[in-house]
Amino acid sequence: MSRCKLIAGNWKMNQGLSQAGALIKALKAELDSDKTCCSANCPELLVFPPFTSIAAVLPEAGGCLQVGAQNVHWAESGAYTGEVSAPMLKELGLSYALIGHSERRQYFGESDESANLRLRAALKAGLKAMLCIGETEEERQLGLTNCVLERQLRWGLSQVSAADMSRVVVAYEPVWAIGTGKTASEADAQAAHAFIRSLLAQLFCTDTAEKTRILYGGSMNAANAAGLLAQPDIDGGLIGGASLKPADFASIVRAAK
Ligand code: PGA
Repeated sequence: MSRCKLIAGNWKMNQGLSQAGALIKALKAELDSDKTCCSANCPELLVFPPFTSIAAVLPEAGGCLQVGAQNVHWAESGAYTGEVSAPMLKELGLSYALIGHSERRQYFGESDESANLRLRAALKAGLKAMLCIGETEEERQLGLTNCVLERQLRWGLSQVSAADMSRVVVAYEPVWAIGTGKTASEADAQAAHAFIRSLLAQLFCTDTAEKTRILYGGSMNAANAAGLLAQPDIDGGLIGGASLKPADFASIVRAAK
């Protein structure tokens, strides 16, 4: 099964409006300079700017470049001060919503249950959803990695139909590797991805599992991307730090070709 690779940049709370406009233009210039992006729209590229910078990035989208939101609320509208709904994101012209990132879970108390509500709201509004899962360092040391992945995946994808899975991407992001410079070894990352794919086959069917893209995230960079992306079950990357450096991000895209 050949899955088109997806390289996504999570800009987190970086790049205000003018910086974001400059970053996306610099990135496109890097990619255009050697025609890195993209033959037959593959690899796909995606960036998640902060909400307030979307206006600067969206006009640059098109072709293989899509834009997503870093979070979404589950209600369509209502008394939820500070939140943004899925229909609002869809109306804006966004393609994806990032769901359940470990920083949302760690700093904002988001749970598997709320990830599931957010993911289903995104799908209902016609968006694609990227569900982030991953174990902490302590959980890995205790041998709980698969147990945690299974819990997060089962909850996160609860009540999602096989048909809707065509609009879902899973991002495996070991929490201990995010922003730390520590990357999972190629073998450990591949093992986790293969496990996630086997769970998808149980939850849905083999065909859905084979078609679903599973990205790796956690200190992916220009130096380690090729090795990780060569693993059979790694279908792309969710990149934080290196996505803010156009030359580095372009190298990762090249490694995905
Ligand atoms: P990192 O972040 O690449 O800086 O480790 C990845 C992420 O948080 O998605």
